[in-house]
Amino acid sequence: MLRKVTQILAITAVSSMLAIGTAVAAPITIKFAHVVAENTPKGQAANKFRDLVAERMGDKVVVEVFPNSQLFGDDTVLEAMALGDVQLAAPSLSKFDRYTKSLQVFDLPFLFSDMAAAERFQQSDIGNELLMSMESKGLIGLGYIHNGLKQISAHKPLRVPEDARGLKFRIQASNVLAAQFEALGAMPLKKPFSEVFTLLQTKAIDGQENTWSNIYSQKFFEVQPYITESNHGLIDYLVVTSAEFWNGLPDDIRAEVKKALDEGIAFGNEVAAQKALDDKQKIIDSGRSEIIYLTPEERALWVEAMKPVWQKFEEEIGKELIDAAYASNE
Ligand code: SIN
Repeated sequence: MLRKVTQILAITAVSSMLAIGTAVAAPITIKFAHVVAENTPKGQAANKFRDLVAERMGDKVVVEVFPNSQLFGDDTVLEAMALGDVQLAAPSLSKFDRYTKSLQVFDLPFLFSDMAAAERFQQSDIGNELLMSMESKGLIGLGYIHNGLKQISAHKPLRVPEDARGLKFRIQASNVLAAQFEALGAMPLKKPFSEVFTLLQTKAIDGQENTWSNIYSQKFFEVQPYITESNHGLIDYLVVTSAEFWNGLPDDIRAEVKKALDEGIAFGNEVAAQKALDDKQKIIDSGRSEIIYLTPEERALWVEAMKPVWQKFEEEIGKELIDAAYASNE
C-alpha cells in the first residue's frame, strides 16, 4: 500500500515538473496610447508597428494601440507611463516642457522652412542626442514621427497678425506657444487635444493652430470657417517609453521591438507628406472652410510678429541648439 502511494506521488511530481517545463510564458504586452485618429500619420505608424510585432513575434509580444485619447490624454500619459500603466506614447514635441527645456526648440515659430529641414535636424547627431534629453526623468525617446507644418484656423479671416489681436486660441501645453500667441496680442489657452472640437464649436475659443491632418481628422474645419495657410510651426512627435520598462526587456526582444518600431515610424513618415496634401484638399472640397493664402508681404508680417519669441527662450533652450536647428534649412 505504502509503495503504491509513493509511486502515485512520484508520478504526480514528474507530471507537474513536465507541465512546468512546457508552460508557455505569457506574451509581454505593450500598450501604446495616443490622442489622434487612426487615419493620421501617427495613427498609421502605431498600427503598422502593432501589425509588424504581431507578424514577427506575436507569441512573445503583443502591442495594443489606443487611439483618440481612449486610454490617456497627453496631459496624463507620461505620469501613467511612470506608473507602468502604459508603455509607449508619442506626444507632440510641444508637450514635454515639464520634463526638458531642450525640446522646446521645435516650437519656435518659423524655425523650419519645410519638413525636409525638420527631418534633417531630427536625424542629425544633435537630434539623436535629444532623444535622451529626459533620461534623468526616466523617459527614453525612441524616434520621431512626422505630422507636418501648422496652420491657424479661426472664426474670422486672419491675414495679418493684427487680425488675431484679442482672440482666444487653444494651444498645446507649451510655454513657447503661449509666448507666440501673446506676441500677437492674442490670448492662448492650454487645453487637451480631445477638448478642442467642442471648444471651437461652442465658441468658447476663437481659433487654434494645427496641421492639415489634425484639422481634417478632428473635423475642426467644420466649425472654423477660415484657415490661414501660415506653415508657421511644426507638429511632430517623440515616441517615448519608460527607461525602467525599456531596459527591463530581454535584449533580443528589445532589439526586435525597436526594429519593428523603426519600420512603423518610417511608414508613418512616408504617409505624412501625402496626408497633408490630401487632407488639405478634402477640406477645400468640403467648402466648409475658406483657405487664406498669404502674400509674401503678409507672411513677412507674421514672421516679424512671432520671431521675438526666439530671443525670449534662447537662454532656456540654448543658442547652440537653436542655431543647429535653424542651420538644417540649408
Ligand atoms: C497630436 O497631434 O498628437 C495632438 C496635437 C495637439 O494637441 O494639437
